[in-house]
Amino acid sequence: TIEDCQKLLTAEIKTFPDWPEKGVNFKDVQSILYKPELALITSHYLQELLPKQDVDFLFNKILCFDARGFLFGFDLAKASKTPMILARKPGKLPGEIITQTFEKEYGLDEIQVQKSLINPGDKVLIHDDLLATGGTAGAAAEIILKCGAEIAGFNFIMDLSFLPGRKVLQQYVDDSKIKAL
Ligand code: PRP
Ligand code: MG
Repeated sequence: TIEDCQKLLTAEIKTFPDWPEKGVNFKDVQSILYKPELALITSHYLQELLPKQDVDFLFNKILCFDARGFLFGFDLAKASKTPMILARKPGKLPGEIITQTFEKEYGLDEIQVQKSLINPGDKVLIHDDLLATGGTAGAAAEIILKCGAEIAGFNFIMDLSFLPGRKVLQQYVDDSKIKAL
């Protein structure tokens, strides 16, 4: 069940206290990848969190974050037969790009997307491995809005619920559309 999966993840995901700086507890997604069974289960239940497409037209694109958001984001894109968009760290993308600066747990950062991939009328689902301060996912939301598209929801493996990430994202979508294992 999804509860078993959550328990497994809590038990298996290694935490590195005070890394990369003091006060930050680094949650290492490597722990999931190193155990193929756990990776399969994680991927399966992440798919269960997706909006149910047969009910309605809920999302038509998935935006995933460089780097750890790519690992399971591609699984979600394939499973839902939805175009996957790579949101990348600066300087990696050719063509016309759209840039968003944001605050991270550890300093300022920038994210970029190829502009032609998100258009008005699109409903874009955002996936990343981890929701912490919400800086990263919030930047994705801003990019989607800048492109004139809609935010369909958020999908994470982990939500560090003691941090304000979920609060930050509630300004973009209803809480029921912010899903995490
Ligand atoms: C980590 C994590 C999320 C983000 C969450 O990525 O993978 O993307 O931080 O933090 P936030 O909610 O405070 O923004 P990181 O920037 O460390 O890089 P990586 O994915 O390339 O490892
Ligand atoms: Mg990341």
